[in-house]
Amino acid sequence: MINIFEEFKNRGSVFKDKKSLDHRYLPTHLPHRKDQITSIAKYWIEALNNVTPSDITVYGKTGTGKTAVAKFAMKQLKEAAVGEDVYIKTEYIRCTDYNTEYQIIARLCQQMGRKVPNRGWTKGEILNTFRDIFKKNAFAKNMILIVVLDEIDILLKNDGDGLLYTLTRTNNVSILSLSNYLEFKKDIGTRVKSSLRDREIVFPPYRADQLVDILNERVKLSFKEDTIDDDVIPLCAAIAAKDEGDARYALDLLITAGELADENESNKVFGDHVREAKDRIEYNKITDIILTLPAQQQRVLEAILKLTQKKEEITSGKLYDAYKEVSKGDSVSYRRIFDFINELEMLGIISTNTVSRGRGKGRTNIIALQSDTGILENTLYPI
Ligand SMILES: Nc1ncnc2c1ncn2[C@@H]1O[C@H](COP(=O)(O)OP(=O)(O)OP(=O)(O)O)[C@@H](O)[C@H]1O
Ligand SMILES: [Mg+2]
Repeated sequence: MINIFEEFKNRGSVFKDKKSLDHRYLPTHLPHRKDQITSIAKYWIEALNNVTPSDITVYGKTGTGKTAVAKFAMKQLKEAAVGEDVYIKTEYIRCTDYNTEYQIIARLCQQMGRKVPNRGWTKGEILNTFRDIFKKNAFAKNMILIVVLDEIDILLKNDGDGLLYTLTRTNNVSILSLSNYLEFKKDIGTRVKSSLRDREIVFPPYRADQLVDILNERVKLSFKEDTIDDDVIPLCAAIAAKDEGDARYALDLLITAGELADENESNKVFGDHVREAKDRIEYNKITDIILTLPAQQQRVLEAILKLTQKKEEITSGKLYDAYKEVSKGDSVSYRRIFDFINELEMLGIISTNTVSRGRGKGRTNIIALQSDTGILENTLYPI
């Protein structure tokens, strides 16, 4: 028998180097983000003059290049500081990985060479160690620390604004916060707001023609020559621009289309691969959502599926009866079902519509499934 890996190795592929399509890859050039990069640089240049830069807040929907631009600006500042008479540190913190004040301060201390435990110290101890870093250092020079707090809304939700308070009250620290949740400042108290004198930069969604430029650059790095049919990139760009102007989604479409071409042993990616890629990505997204729902909520969905297949009009009362049948006695209250319905609607899996039954008969909620019954069946009843 042929070795399975040898077989795969010999199989042709449209990809030249998949690494550059990975979401961790940082491109050396970011088309259509020059203004945003320039804005950050305009503030950060102060650090090269030994002045602590203003704090910056970046807003933008998902996939608008916030993380990529912040990392790019950090890299450029580091390069510009070489040989200058300054001592600048830049630290990147993803608040999904470090989501409490303690964890982040501990991480910053460790990155700057202090030995602090990941837990166990009091807040006072850890804050003193952190502040101490700014009093003296090996170069006997004032250090400027620029902290990038990516997905800061997660930190604020999880642990409040204590970290921002600490960082804004420490001399020589400048913060760049990134958020795709435009209203995250609601979670910052007035005490911190007054010391956070930040400049705001907005990242607009990408238009289709901008996504075309972004994808074209990536294709040169990651696909073999002549493997992309003419309408592939415009199609990926159009689909992603129609959705949210999300560059991550556009890249996902391109990668998945390439993988489908490989699976079908086609030596070129065609528009049909992109259309199929769109379905596959959507399918996976819905499947992921359903599988992470609590068990009782999955039962509600099962009941909706059953009623839909019977082509019945779904009222909340009818749904509750069907749900009780599905859950076989182990069911939640009628009231709780309304929460579930709301959540499923927010996730886009179902829709609800209130209809009037005519005089004196009141109003009824009609529930309709918004996703494909096939996806639900495959996910809820795996073979
Ligand atoms: N102008 C650009 N040029 C090249 N690649 C880009 C550009 N903007 C975004 N990308 C790529 O698109 C993907 C998503 O970008 P990024 O992670 O920076 O988005 P984000 O705004 O941080 O999204 P989120 O809010 O979901 O974190 C990354 O792979 C990134 O490299
Ligand atoms: Mg990001």
